[in-house]
Amino acid sequence: MSLLAEIREKAAKKTKRIVLPEGTEERTLMAVKGIVDNKIAVPILLGDESEIKTLAGKYGADISGAEIINPTKSANFDDYVQAFYEMRKKKGVDMDKARATMSNPLYYASMMVKMGHADGEVAGAVNTTGNVLRPALQIIRTAPGISAVSGSFIMIVPNCEYGDKGTFVYADCAVTPVPTAEQMAEFAKTSVETAVDLCGMSDPKVGMLSFSTKGSASHETIDKVVEATKIAQERFPELKVDGELQADAAIVPSVGKSKAPDSEVAGNCNVLIFPDLQAGNIGYKLTQRLAGAEAIGPILQGLDKPVNDLSRGCSVEDIINVVAMIVVKA
Ligand code: ACO
Repeated sequence: MSLLAEIREKAAKKTKRIVLPEGTEERTLMAVKGIVDNKIAVPILLGDESEIKTLAGKYGADISGAEIINPTKSANFDDYVQAFYEMRKKKGVDMDKARATMSNPLYYASMMVKMGHADGEVAGAVNTTGNVLRPALQIIRTAPGISAVSGSFIMIVPNCEYGDKGTFVYADCAVTPVPTAEQMAEFAKTSVETAVDLCGMSDPKVGMLSFSTKGSASHETIDKVVEATKIAQERFPELKVDGELQADAAIVPSVGKSKAPDSEVAGNCNVLIFPDLQAGNIGYKLTQRLAGAEAIGPILQGLDKPVNDLSRGCSVEDIINVVAMIVVKA
């Protein structure tokens, strides 16, 4: 069974309510039937009910299994406005601004999740990563002990003997442009959670990547990776993590053995932490295009409650899959 089929199966064993703030978007409406028929979640569409129903009719989408909430007309609207005002008044938000902000479905959705009125949120079919993330960062915020959110990709490389039978988790490929050493260490922790929860990996081994292996080169950018490794080993002693490692020393057993003979993970890493977003984003796209890998993500990691972004080029099936991933994480 494929990994995505396994994730859908895991989701079907739970009953979670997932809010879809882009409630008038065609692929989102078309995804409702798949989400409901596969028992993945109870979808909640945000928007004006009559507009959503008219559009669903036009697109031929069966949305009978969805709840519909019009943010500004909802019973919770005033409470959400008040809560947002309390959270953000130190940032200069007044009640008028709070009311206007909460009328934005992306902010309303994050507040639903924060308040426990939904178990997770999926958006991004028409909104940018930044626009989906900002409300989540402001309202849901990061999980205890985590200061930065990251976006990982599950990479499934065909006919590959490396990693976990060709499966890897790459991070950060989507969110934090220049992470600190502390934040890189956190990405190791949250990426291992993704590897276990979503990929079912039984033995995650983290490589903190660089262009140097164990002191083979020196530069301030390498110092950050060395420091990140030390922090990860100290703060998260349960992890198997080592660095700094070049990509080949991280994943190829013979290279790992020769370049980092004392490492517990070198040569066998299946979770790869990149030194910055440029490297991570380039790395996942090269693996996807040159190795023909399936790239599942970005999976947002480190938020206190699950929210996920979609690619604006997503298909209906992609939306159903991301909803299933959020349910598994919820
Ligand atoms: N982790 C945790 N909190 C964060 C992070 C982070 N990575 N970044 C910002 N925040 C917090 C800030 O501290 C701030 O909190 P506060 O308002 O309470 O003080 C709040 O979030 C908003 O921060 P801003 O700096 O105002 O937000 P910004 O406009 O910089 O947006 C964002 C942050 C959205 C994460 C931005 O850094 C971004 O757009 N990152 C890149 C996303 C991207 O384009 N990815 C590539 C495409 S995806 C792909 O190819 C798969």
